[in-house]
Amino acid sequence: MSATIIDGKAFSAKIRGRVAEEVAALKRDHGLVPGLAVVLVGADPASEVYVRSKGRKTVEAGMESFEHRLPAETTEADLLALVEKLNTDPAVHGILVQLPLPKHMNADAVINAIDPAKDVDGFHISNVGLLGTGQKAMVPCTPLGCLMMLRDHLGDMSGKEAVVIGRSNIVGKPMAHLLLGESCTVSIAHSRTKDIEEVVRRADIVIAAVGRPGMVKGAWIKPGATVIDVGINRIDAGDGKTRLVGDVDFDEAREVAGAITPVPGGVGPMTIACLLANTVTAACRANG
Ligand code: GUN
Repeated sequence: MSATIIDGKAFSAKIRGRVAEEVAALKRDHGLVPGLAVVLVGADPASEVYVRSKGRKTVEAGMESFEHRLPAETTEADLLALVEKLNTDPAVHGILVQLPLPKHMNADAVINAIDPAKDVDGFHISNVGLLGTGQKAMVPCTPLGCLMMLRDHLGDMSGKEAVVIGRSNIVGKPMAHLLLGESCTVSIAHSRTKDIEEVVRRADIVIAAVGRPGMVKGAWIKPGATVIDVGINRIDAGDGKTRLVGDVDFDEAREVAGAITPVPGGVGPMTIACLLANTVTAACRANG
């Protein structure tokens, strides 16, 4: 039987609609316009696409978008000075420094210079600590989007076996904490995991976030499992063009899973919706 396809594009549109309503109410009742500053250093083509899309969706939701594009040779000191300026700008409620940063910069130092209250990425060490200890945190957008889709599809996840494949700070680790918060039994699998197929086959919930096209095979999936594919990999389509695929072999997995997110149109759109939602949260908190 073929899996239910979880439509991240439609779900994202619903959340962005809700965010736009909240923004309109903040304007009407409090004269407050939430503002998101996005900083891009260098000209990485994938980052360019993400930043343009974030700016467009921010404006569509009725918020203010501030884009700062800096050359790749920018010094860390100059970037830190910009972050400090944004920290103290009352029109800016959320700050996102697009990663990866050029090699000559210390990304941790830059992220930890962002005011944690404006850290809409949830990457600041204070937010990481709050999430890790189950306290109210700014939650990283991609795992938050995955969680929203899981809650919508599964409801109560208590006692379910969840496997997160990938241990990145951006997705794998925060995702594992969120699933623990849902009272799942959580495993994190990674490149050194022994017998990864067996680990994945135990799971009622699979989150694939490794950045390896089609790595997770249909035979690894427990029948009926819910599969969330975070991978966005550009591969050669064979006809001189490229196409986007996830970390899961979609055609195989959809024959076994109970539900699965497609790539594109699954997790990707949810990430931006959660970024907008985090920006509204930051604006509300900043204004009591
Ligand atoms: N690069 C890839 N994903 C992300 C993200 O979620 N936030 C930032 N700041 N950079 C990224």
